[in-house]
Amino acid sequence: MKTVAVLTGATGGLGKAFLQELLQEELDEIWAVARDPRKLEALCAAFGEKVVPVRCDLCVSSEVEGFVALLKAKTPDIRFLINNAGLARMGPIETFSADEISKTVEVNCKLPTLICQYALPYMNRGARILNIASAAAFQPNPYIALHSATKAYLRSYSRSMQYELRAKGITCTAVCPGWIDTTMLQRSRNGQRIRFPGMVSPEKVARKAMKDAKKGKDMSVCTLFVKQEHLWSKLMPQKWSMAIWGHAVRKYAEDQNSLPAK
Ligand SMILES: NC(=O)c1ccc[n+]([C@@H]2O[C@H](COP(=O)([O-])OP(=O)(O)OC[C@H]3O[C@@H](n4cnc5c(N)ncnc54)[C@H](OP(=O)(O)O)[C@@H]3O)[C@@H](O)[C@H]2O)c1
Repeated sequence: MKTVAVLTGATGGLGKAFLQELLQEELDEIWAVARDPRKLEALCAAFGEKVVPVRCDLCVSSEVEGFVALLKAKTPDIRFLINNAGLARMGPIETFSADEISKTVEVNCKLPTLICQYALPYMNRGARILNIASAAAFQPNPYIALHSATKAYLRSYSRSMQYELRAKGITCTAVCPGWIDTTMLQRSRNGQRIRFPGMVSPEKVARKAMKDAKKGKDMSVCTLFVKQEHLWSKLMPQKWSMAIWGHAVRKYAEDQNSLPAK
């Protein structure tokens, strides 16, 4: 039976950083899950033969069924499951189409939950689940409301999983990074360069997350800056923190030209 890591969103900025971490583990294969076949091909060329491309659009149920069939056929010993694929966009809530809302909820909430469920029968004592949530999960954040709410779900679900899985010796870590320097972030809006206070490299987030997961922590918070945000979210009334956040990002987010197509 092969020892395997399953990594979704492997072709993205944080995904590649996790891939580098996983390559240092004693694993037979790393299953890299993503949609774009060209990016997957480039990933395998860059990271070597341990990386097994698994093309799967997490929003297409037949493709997810294909992933489940792969599990049944290969019966791997999954040592790491990293639910990293995610979607985010800044903007007023009325600019989100029904399709964008559905896809964001599916990729950020439904699929990580289902993939955990599908993978658990193939996980044994000492196996690690890492669910990539966000510091946006600490409080409601106007103008990234959908992202923030979906990550709050994932953080909450992951922490409950960690509790329930203790007896099996499997850990589940909710990874809650602040801004990460990847292409997910839109760099300017309304003609203004967007500032991302405390932004860090994906490598730093992945390294800390793997370290925390191996310690069996239920949450991974990288950098003092984000730890402070976490503390404030517990001490400050949420109405105040939302008002501070809303005031800071309103100038980027409110855009009359970005209303959705009817
Ligand atoms: N960047 C930040 O500031 C930040 C902060 C906090 C948390 N996070 C979280 O960190 C994680 C990684 O983010 P990132 O910055 O690395 O984003 P990214 O560079 O945009 O990468 C996103 C990844 O998700 C995959 N993906 C998206 N939709 C998918 C779908 N329907 N099916 C399969 N794969 C799909 C993409 O694959 P394809 O390219 O093949 O579509 C890509 O590999 C996300 O969960 C994000 O919410 C990011």
